[in-house]
Amino acid sequence: MTDDEPAERIRTDGGTAEGADDVALDPWGSSTVSDYRKLFEEFGIEEFDEVLDEVPNPHYLMRRGVIFGHRDYRPVLDAMRNGDDFAVLSGFMPTGDPHIGHKLVFDEIIWHQEQGGDAYGLIADMEAHSARGIPWDEINEHSRDYLLSLIALGFDPEEGELYRQSDNDRLQRLAFELGGKANFSEFQSIYGFDGETNVSHMQSVVTQMADILYPQLDDPKPTVIPVGPDQDPHVRFARDLAIRMRFFKVTEAFASFELDDAERPLVAAAHDAREAYAEDADMPRCGEAAEWLADADLDAAGVLVSESVRESAVEKLENAGMEPLRPRIRFFARQATDEAFEALIEDIEGEKRRYDQHIDAFDMDVDEAEDLAREVEAHHGGYGFIAPSSIYHRFMTGLTGGKMSSSIPASHISLLDAPEEGYDKVKSATTGGRDTADEQRELGGEADKCPVYELYAYLLTGDDDELAKEVYDECVGGERLCGGCKEQAATMMREFLEDHHEKREEAAEVLDSLDIDLETERRGVAAEH
Ligand code: TRP
Ligand code: SF4
Repeated sequence: MTDDEPAERIRTDGGTAEGADDVALDPWGSSTVSDYRKLFEEFGIEEFDEVLDEVPNPHYLMRRGVIFGHRDYRPVLDAMRNGDDFAVLSGFMPTGDPHIGHKLVFDEIIWHQEQGGDAYGLIADMEAHSARGIPWDEINEHSRDYLLSLIALGFDPEEGELYRQSDNDRLQRLAFELGGKANFSEFQSIYGFDGETNVSHMQSVVTQMADILYPQLDDPKPTVIPVGPDQDPHVRFARDLAIRMRFFKVTEAFASFELDDAERPLVAAAHDAREAYAEDADMPRCGEAAEWLADADLDAAGVLVSESVRESAVEKLENAGMEPLRPRIRFFARQATDEAFEALIEDIEGEKRRYDQHIDAFDMDVDEAEDLAREVEAHHGGYGFIAPSSIYHRFMTGLTGGKMSSSIPASHISLLDAPEEGYDKVKSATTGGRDTADEQRELGGEADKCPVYELYAYLLTGDDDELAKEVYDECVGGERLCGGCKEQAATMMREFLEDHHEKREEAAEVLDSLDIDLETERRGVAAEH
């Protein structure tokens, strides 16, 4: 962002309404977030602002900070900029009507599709049935509604793929494979599952893991999963499983011993500094490096570490004594077949040294090594998954204050609401306004706490940053009063819904022409198709 000011000003603090819970990332629990900063500190979600500059024509939800966080989004952005393959996927539990909160995710999927990504939208019907107990006939109806809105908003089903979890055999086979790498104690610690948790609910979790990796089934590619932060446990678990499925692990090493991620930069710094201490700079010895590292000024070398990490690195180097310190790439056989291991060894070019469980290569860099490992894996029956990325959007505040919830109709605007109903809901929404008009003129409104302003920023103003900023500035400047402001928003909402309903009708034809079964009464059991 070139100019911070306006960007800051058009941001809101959605989800911070009173009564919001503490941060808890629970996919099936309450999902309000009282303090988004904690997500960065406690869960390691990264700030979206840090990658915003790298996004080619960012979506308005990105520009306005509604998409606030990410995990490892850069590989997706790199692919986007270089015209390489990438994918986007998200899923929806058909437990009720799709509403304007879901629209954020629809928009995110569609935007990535427009940027050239392979796009996937799925109906998490197994999850809705097993975790929420929704009967299949209701699921059928809601599924149709989600898909219609997604298509109406611009998803291209010719280019992308839409599916139901329960109706996707490849997905289920992948879920089975992934389940082989997960165990119950992880389910307990990640999701709080216990002896009472029904087994189908657990199956729906491995199914979601499979969803997240599904875009890579034919070809590994960077994949982004746009979701609310409540889904982060799923994302982390899927990233973990993606790596566990890999045949080889590629690391950088400097001698026969292993280094952990904290120690590695220290030893790399010691290698860089070899001229300073080695008797023969062409062949620095580990023992020499140990001496240097023991009291090197690491701040000057640009490496920040704790003393205990320094000590352990020094010790490893000391123990290796006269062994040369020499950078290399190390391939570990994680779960490669012997055949794949042999093939890898064969394919490594240049100098290499073979050990029992690993092989060191001296003439390649990490990226080449990763590509090679993935290629060999793919040729020998593996998947070669790339750890999936994610982006996180803020939860919308309910129109009545507090949390926007599918089960409280007045708190949200359903994408199926009649235009007039949408109009009325906006008109009776709570605001960030002052008690009297005079006070409002004097103090200005509190747009940052106003669900109506959120409607403008998240939806109504669309791509028009100027309008969003104008509403904000006029509000906080006391020039805008809530009555007129709501009238304007309500009218825009009515128009949005009118338009959306028309597009849903057109989408119905498209949906009917796709091969998606929305009729089955007992999923997978009664059906034969
Ligand atoms: N668990 C998600 C929800 O509660 C739905 C979902 C299923 C999903 N599979 C997914 C979301 C894959 C993102 C990616 O809404
Ligand atoms: Fe909200 Fe508009 Fe009132 Fe400002 S003027 S508090 S944005 S309703």
